[in-house]
Amino acid sequence: GSLVIAVDGTSGSGKSSASRGVADRLGLRYLDTGAMFRAMTWWLLREGVDVRDGVAVAAVAGRPRIESGTDPLAPTITVDGVDVSVEIRGDEVNAAVSPVSAVPEVRTRLLELQREAIGDGGIVVEGRDIGSVVWPQAEVKVYLSADPAARAQRRTAEQGGTDVASTEQSLLERDRIDSGRATAPLVMADGAVHVDSTHLTLEQVIDRLTELAHE
Ligand code: C5P
Repeated sequence: GSLVIAVDGTSGSGKSSASRGVADRLGLRYLDTGAMFRAMTWWLLREGVDVRDGVAVAAVAGRPRIESGTDPLAPTITVDGVDVSVEIRGDEVNAAVSPVSAVPEVRTRLLELQREAIGDGGIVVEGRDIGSVVWPQAEVKVYLSADPAARAQRRTAEQGGTDVASTEQSLLERDRIDSGRATAPLVMADGAVHVDSTHLTLEQVIDRLTELAHE
């Protein structure tokens, strides 16, 4: 049934863990729209398309078949039937995904798939423009943020790495492009509740989102 929870925010704000957690708790599906932009980017890189050339990217954006599995305990993402869950988290995709996501034709294509996946609701959807563009009528809208240092710490730990400084640089560079682009920039949507997770545990963030869903 119809409930849609839109969770937007910056890179590494804890959106994925919190969104999956609240979906699991409430028995909802889960859609990771960032994974769709990452899958598009992975495919473009594999095809040898120059990802900094917006015209070249736009020309082929309709080609890959991108499918998302929406089980919060085991989300999947495939391109032309191939599971790319691991590949889309690599450095190459990290560096190219924000410029690719700024191409309007990429956004139009994925918007169509996102709305299809949302269907008649019962889902937590995370991204950058869910509450503003993809599903402005969402019953619950959350804008999740955290201090850059906290985000870099968490992301580095998640990836089992040690270079917090370079992780922070990469997050900030994506935020800069995501917030500054002309089409569907990262903004706080009308009606969104701001949750700052800097000093909250994952459980506390999930509790907060659950409360908002019950209001
Ligand atoms: O959420 P995640 O960090 O995986 O997203 C990767 C990138 O995909 C973001 O930095 C942004 O450029 C793009 N994105 C977007 N719109 C969304 C979700 C992700 O532009 N709704």
